[in-house]
Amino acid sequence: MNKRIRELKKQLGDQLIIPAHHYQKQEIIACADIIGDSYKLAVDVSSIDAEYIVFCGVKFMAEGAAILAKEHQRIILPASNAGCPMADMISIDQAETAMQNIHEFCGQSAIPVVYMNAYGDLKALSGRYGGSVCTSSNAQKIMTHYLQNNTPVFFLPDYCLGINTARELSIPDEQIAIVRQDCTIETTGKPEDIKLFLWDGNCRVHQRFTTEHIERIRDEHPGIRVIVHPEVREQVAAAADYAGSTQYIYNTIQKAPAGTIWGVGTEYNFVSRVAADFPEKSIFPIFESHCSNMEKTTINNLQYMLEAIADDTLLLKYPDHIISVPESIRKDAALSLNNMISIVQEN
Ligand code: 13P
Ligand code: SF4
Repeated sequence: MNKRIRELKKQLGDQLIIPAHHYQKQEIIACADIIGDSYKLAVDVSSIDAEYIVFCGVKFMAEGAAILAKEHQRIILPASNAGCPMADMISIDQAETAMQNIHEFCGQSAIPVVYMNAYGDLKALSGRYGGSVCTSSNAQKIMTHYLQNNTPVFFLPDYCLGINTARELSIPDEQIAIVRQDCTIETTGKPEDIKLFLWDGNCRVHQRFTTEHIERIRDEHPGIRVIVHPEVREQVAAAADYAGSTQYIYNTIQKAPAGTIWGVGTEYNFVSRVAADFPEKSIFPIFESHCSNMEKTTINNLQYMLEAIADDTLLLKYPDHIISVPESIRKDAALSLNNMISIVQEN
């Protein structure tokens, strides 16, 4: 951590908390008070009282914190342009049209389960229809919870997390439909049999991983265990030994015996840090893929935020970095996030 950031953190004391997502670069992680996957960050941040939460991650994550924030809290994003192309792959209008088309297609409403990697208006939609947010760490639990009621689930926006979760739950192809970007529905099954409608979105960072990368790394390192994030393609998840959230990946490697060899299929900065944190294991990226949005947080923009908090010029200098959600969607979006937390804690 640089000297000035250390001084500012000391000066701001309990007023300030810096959460950082696992994909942040090492120099940002070194400044963070909380590090985690998107579920851990959402839960941990919702239980703190600090007035200033400087969220090192991307916008949908900071928005999630703003939805659950208390009235006196300010959520600040050091890189105000740190978006997520996957979250941009569905608008509220598309989601509403898809909900209508699904109803016409199978004669009943689906429950929307919205991946954390979506903006507040979509989280609010799932709250309004009795659904929930989910993250990669709990998608199986959340889907199982809703599928038990014999109501179809509309999962959005990540097709890959959806299909990889469906495979874990042994849902056959005839019970799955894909909802294309123009809201048309494609399936090989009968409308009345469909359990899962999957929106056709994806993460470009995770689409780059291929089964050839896994084959190559297995040839190069006999005995290697391959672990991937479930945003990878279905064939890539099937070729890996384990799949799970960033926190799951971190914990699994942490618990593994010294001397084990790991090939990791997710964002490169994270893989490098896991390798540095556990030098007694051999850890390799299966391919070097960066999330350019996560990389937009820098020591400079983090320091500018802390300086502006300390001299009370935040609102004046950086209004675009203060993340909030309109009150008209906040309540339903909070319901949807809280539904996720209750389902996870009950199971
Ligand atoms: P995690 O919830 O596993 O940290 O994933 C967030 C993400 O954006 C992965 O691309
Ligand atoms: Fe979005 Fe993919 Fe980056 Fe995650 S890795 S924030 S899903 S672009």
